[in-house]
Amino acid sequence: MANDLLKGKRGIIFGALNSQSIAWKVAERAHEEGATFVLTNAPIAMRMGEINNLAEATGSKIIPADATSVEDLDNLVTQSMEILGGKIDFVLHSIGMSPNVRKKKHYTENDYRFYSQTMDVSAMSLHKTLATLYKHDAMSEWGSVLALSYIAAQRIFPDYNDMADAKSLLESIARSFGYHYGIKNKVRVNTISQSPTVTTAGQGIKGFQEFINFSEQMSPLGNASALACADYCLSMFSDLTKYVTMQNLFHDGGFSNTGVTQPVIERFGDE
Ligand code: NAI
Repeated sequence: MANDLLKGKRGIIFGALNSQSIAWKVAERAHEEGATFVLTNAPIAMRMGEINNLAEATGSKIIPADATSVEDLDNLVTQSMEILGGKIDFVLHSIGMSPNVRKKKHYTENDYRFYSQTMDVSAMSLHKTLATLYKHDAMSEWGSVLALSYIAAQRIFPDYNDMADAKSLLESIARSFGYHYGIKNKVRVNTISQSPTVTTAGQGIKGFQEFINFSEQMSPLGNASALACADYCLSMFSDLTKYVTMQNLFHDGGFSNTGVTQPVIERFGDE
């Protein structure tokens, strides 16, 4: 169902790795809604090659960029404006990676080189992206920058490991930069805190499937899918949400405000 919600808008979409990626769904839906955009991902992720199919399907160019490299981001932003023929209206930051999670380092025994990488890739990359856009005056007035977060930024989910700290930082950067960018260019910066979703990044978390089931039962509406998340992202890129900025927006079927649900309570009935 397309409504030309993003007709004429230009964007940059980070993080489409394969068809499960949240960014992939955002790209497909943004295309349906009339946007044009550049796709980007870390050069190493390009090796899988799947992003080429998405580029073809959406008529997009791909510009590789390691989101931790200011040089790569400079190139991405300047080239994107050239390719798209003007300033950028929306940016999706859909990036996450923790070497401590990957190498199964317990939170209490984190490797600090890994920890720095987690922060750099998963959080500081948002600051670097925003600072690059700001420096090049690349965003249109009322433009919208979104990053994806998770409720482990507010509450403990032990196996989320150092990604929880990265998400706290990510949300704080959105708030701080949102202030400065709002004052300067009326640019909006927000994070969307999404339900657990089956993707490559999600599956790296220990006990993920059990956790998805738990979350499903703890959410009055059930877990939000990647496609539903994409739709919410589009609404945040559209002109219908112009005064929303510096927020962390829960897109989680009600999980964040639920203490307990009947199905969960019933599991404790016999004890
Ligand atoms: P995904 O694995 O499909 O996407 C993660 C992306 O980050 C990949 O495309 C990867 O190549 C990219 N990336 C990693 N290092 C990079 C770097 N140095 N430079 C540029 N890109 C880099 O997984 P998913 O789930 O779509 O993740 C997208 C975002 O959604 C992440 O921020 C994740 O933390 C967040 N999120 C995911 C949830 C889930 O359960 N899957 C729940 C809540 C938030």
